[in-house]
Amino acid sequence: MSAPGKSYDPVQVTPLEADQVDRMRATALAAIAAATDLDVLHEVQREHAGDRSPLALANREIGALPPQAKADAGKRVGGARKTIKDALAARQVELERERDEGILAAEVVDVTLPWDRAPRGARHPLTTLMERISDVFVGMGYEIAEGPEAETEWHVFDALNTPPHHPARSTMDTFFVESADSGVVLRPHTSSLQIRAMLERDLPLYVVCPGRVYRTDELDATHTPVFHQVEALAVDKGLSMAHLRGTLDTFAHAMFGPGVRTRLRPHHFQFTEPSAEMDLLCFVCRGRSLEPGGEPCRTCSSEGWIEWGGCGMVNPRVLRAVGIDPDLWSGFAFGMGIERTLMFRHGVEDMRDMVEGDVRFTLPFGMES
Ligand code: PHE
Repeated sequence: MSAPGKSYDPVQVTPLEADQVDRMRATALAAIAAATDLDVLHEVQREHAGDRSPLALANREIGALPPQAKADAGKRVGGARKTIKDALAARQVELERERDEGILAAEVVDVTLPWDRAPRGARHPLTTLMERISDVFVGMGYEIAEGPEAETEWHVFDALNTPPHHPARSTMDTFFVESADSGVVLRPHTSSLQIRAMLERDLPLYVVCPGRVYRTDELDATHTPVFHQVEALAVDKGLSMAHLRGTLDTFAHAMFGPGVRTRLRPHHFQFTEPSAEMDLLCFVCRGRSLEPGGEPCRTCSSEGWIEWGGCGMVNPRVLRAVGIDPDLWSGFAFGMGIERTLMFRHGVEDMRDMVEGDVRFTLPFGMES
């Protein structure tokens, strides 16, 4: 082996022979062509074009050759190295393009795929109806009131002129909260809000309270142990049954349209005097089941009318219980069933549909607020 700086060595250096250089170039080109990814190509480059590659080592031998041979070998080795360098660069471009195309193909996003497969929910029609009812009353100048669902017996009964052991208590199938003498019940009506409103607010007052109530009823087509009422209370000077009737009719028209027929039927409540129940003409038979030869109607039990809720003038004893002078002030109140209102408005015939939470029931009501 010769070394650089040795001025003359007549011995031909094997690695610089033409066929050897050709073979090194061919081997390198084959390796480059066979490189299937950039990492392999990097290896190939180190092996065939790096500092310690056969051609780089051969290049170092050139200096030891006689001048003529030096030029020939220089050309040969230089040419081979350039060919390899160009082939590497070309392959590099090719492999980079393949890699980029691969990434684009693998990470492609199909923007035409459906994106809304998660089914949408819907607000419950009882909720939207309660909001609509509140709007009707707010439009008439009422304020919205709220109160606890676990309520004291005093607010639910005593202050509403229904003392302990009064028979009227047992007509409300009330859930009692343990212990039996806790004095707390799940409110069986929203009328406790009358008491809270009169204790907490200044007169005159106009409040409306949509809310959940509880009674020990079995769930069937027309009963549910948890349902909703909307309570309204007005206390002012000179209020009469006419104001009550007008307000109820305005409410009924807002709910069921101007063509709805209503009637007040005398009734009894401990906390109103006089008292009445308000009925609506049956939304199924329209009263025809009452006519001679009329088909029987299941919805109104052929009575022609369906009860919507109770109402009356606030009993002076109730006013006195909360410190209001009944000689100066009078009031009216009513409590309507929201489930019933929904049944009338939308022809829902089975209350169970309202409590089951099946989105197929709620969706068709839409998102009205
Ligand atoms: N609280 C009564 C009920 O639940 C309804 C009612 C409210 C009656 C207000 C009169 C006045 O049946």
